[in-house]
Amino acid sequence: MTKHNNLQSISVRIAVKTPAVSRALEEIVSTLDGFEQQLDEKATQTDVLVLEVGDNPAKEFETVRALLEDGVVNQVFLTSAKTTTDILLPALRTGAKQFFQQPLVFQEVQQAFVDIHKERIAGEGIAVEKVSIKPGKMVSVLGAKGGVGTTTVAVNLAVSLNRLYPEKTIALVDMNRVLGEVTVFLDLQTEFNWDELVKNISRLDPAYLAKALIQSAPGLYVMPAPNSIESGSQVSSQVMKQVLETTKNSFDFVIVDAGTQVGASAFRIFSSSDTIALITTLSLPCIINVKRLLGTMRLLGSIPMNNINIIANRFEKKSAISLEDTEKMTGHSVYSTLPNDYQKTLEAINTGKPLVDVAKNSQLVKSLNKLAESLIVKEEPVVKRKSWFW
Ligand SMILES: Nc1ncnc2c1ncn2[C@@H]1O[C@H](COP(=O)(O)OP(=O)(O)OP(=O)(O)O)[C@@H](O)[C@H]1O
Ligand SMILES: [Mg+2]
Repeated sequence: MTKHNNLQSISVRIAVKTPAVSRALEEIVSTLDGFEQQLDEKATQTDVLVLEVGDNPAKEFETVRALLEDGVVNQVFLTSAKTTTDILLPALRTGAKQFFQQPLVFQEVQQAFVDIHKERIAGEGIAVEKVSIKPGKMVSVLGAKGGVGTTTVAVNLAVSLNRLYPEKTIALVDMNRVLGEVTVFLDLQTEFNWDELVKNISRLDPAYLAKALIQSAPGLYVMPAPNSIESGSQVSSQVMKQVLETTKNSFDFVIVDAGTQVGASAFRIFSSSDTIALITTLSLPCIINVKRLLGTMRLLGSIPMNNINIIANRFEKKSAISLEDTEKMTGHSVYSTLPNDYQKTLEAINTGKPLVDVAKNSQLVKSLNKLAESLIVKEEPVVKRKSWFW
């Protein structure tokens, strides 16, 4: 007996020529309760048609219109690798419900199906369990002090995850209140509009976020900082928390450049993080701050202490303060070290490139890759999903 035994499955016909895209859609449909791929060529009616725009868009759009008008299909999703306005606008005017740009964003497609399911339930007045989406993992990168390398770690950790696991979707979120720098580190133009996002807070969903965020590479999306200096408006902690939580439901990984934070309200924003990567250097003022931060977090109790990973950045073996000293002083183990490489980090920043593109074989990149791998292994020991991106 299926979960939705009181509701007939929603049939999905996949008319997609590109094999990898077709396979990905088949897998998405197979993972969702309440949907069934329609394989019977002779079927006369389909609930959802997913159609790839081919060589003759004008004719295909005409067909879509006719199929919808005649009730042969109830809903149409279109997909194409091309997103020029001459395709996109007529596609949306056919009455198609969604247009998925290729490479597909797994969560965007999944959410579109979930929405159809919700509409069906609402239409039939049937109360059934929610189709659930597994939330992603959130890693907040927090600096013990300004200038310790928080942005360097956040940006390059996100890029490492993206390069090592191209099937994962990653959101890199800049939460620095005054001057965000993630877009500078990745040489991205900011078109993101925080005011717009805040206005639409009630309808934040994966599809909205995938379109609003800036794509840095396939699978890697950036949310720039809510700079109060630029927008003139302050984004409240409550809104930030809500934005982060929705983002977590929409991506496999959310890497947050949390900058330096002290107060309880700031920590509340990150309380839903699965990991806090606390960046420090092995200098006395930094270690004292680490101790203070750990104390505050322990007192607040909203963040489990074993979710906090101390990362010693700019690490040098001959450092006056050793890792053991640091552990003794803070009462917390050091999770990993990232070697000192000022020249390469600066070159990366100044050229707007990730470290892997300026120093692929450096120890620093190797350590960042290890850190990224340890996060994946820690969170997902077994399953490696098929690639969603091409
Ligand atoms: N592993 C490293 N080795 C050497 N230098 C590093 C390393 N990581 C970062 N740096 C250097 O430290 C400086 C500050 O880096 P970054 O901007 O990432 O720090 P931050 O903590 O985000 O600073 P801010 O507080 O201004 O946001 C940069 O000049 C960068 O080159
Ligand atoms: Mg920074």
